[in-house]
Amino acid sequence: MISYIVYIYNRAIQWYWSFRARVQLRLRGVSLPRGFVVLGPLGLSARGRIVIGENVTIVNSSRFNRAGINHPTQLVAGQGATLTIGDNTGISGAAIFCSNSITIGNHVLIGANCRIYDTDFHPVDFMERRRRRPCSTAPIIIEDDVWLGEGVTILKGVTIGARSVIAAGSVVTKNIGSDTLAGGMPARPIRPVNGRNVA
Ligand SMILES: CC(C)(COP(=O)(O)OP(=O)(O)OC[C@H]1O[C@@H](n2cnc3c(N)ncnc32)[C@H](O)[C@@H]1OP(=O)(O)O)[C@@H](O)C(=O)NCCC(=O)NCCS
Repeated sequence: MISYIVYIYNRAIQWYWSFRARVQLRLRGVSLPRGFVVLGPLGLSARGRIVIGENVTIVNSSRFNRAGINHPTQLVAGQGATLTIGDNTGISGAAIFCSNSITIGNHVLIGANCRIYDTDFHPVDFMERRRRRPCSTAPIIIEDDVWLGEGVTILKGVTIGARSVIAAGSVVTKNIGSDTLAGGMPARPIRPVNGRNVA
């Protein structure tokens, strides 16, 4: 009986947060995706275009994912930018900031507290920062079936090939091929996902 009550309670919470997120999407002109599950409050800013595929799950609180989510997921598409999230992709407490183009494929797993920035936010040169000049931006592509471990950061211009795995805490500054386990700061290929270490 208690497990039934807990089940109903959890379903009600899932319904509430998913409904709230759907209202947020609708108010910002984002098409409503099918099978969209949201747990906890979602951060959303859509001055540009956000496209969300089918059966996407977004978790925004440690209450719903005990891996230790530090903050709600932020989905941001600036003016003229396009953020695309493919079908059956799961996101836990990520900050996805798109000022150019970010394309996330199908069946991608984005672990707790990842950051995906296609912009540096500020120029490297201090005088350009003072003058509020634009900074570097470049598109990011995360192909199908990629898994990003906890706390991974993906920076501008990076493509991660299909089925690759990025180790927890890595900072990815350059392209990673497909079927590759990569990690470190900056991330380097370590071994094929189904093979031995490169070294
Ligand atoms: C620091 C930064 C602005 C430099 O950008 P850049 O001048 O275009 O630098 P590059 O991409 O050419 O990288 C230069 C080298 O530093 C390495 N590198 C860059 N960022 C790195 C990081 N965070 N950790 C480790 N190495 C890094 C690159 O791999 C590259 O190595 P290489 O010379 O062996 O090829 C950028 O890497 C960055 O961190 N951007 C995000 C800034 C941010 O956090 N903004 C949000 C908060 S305000």
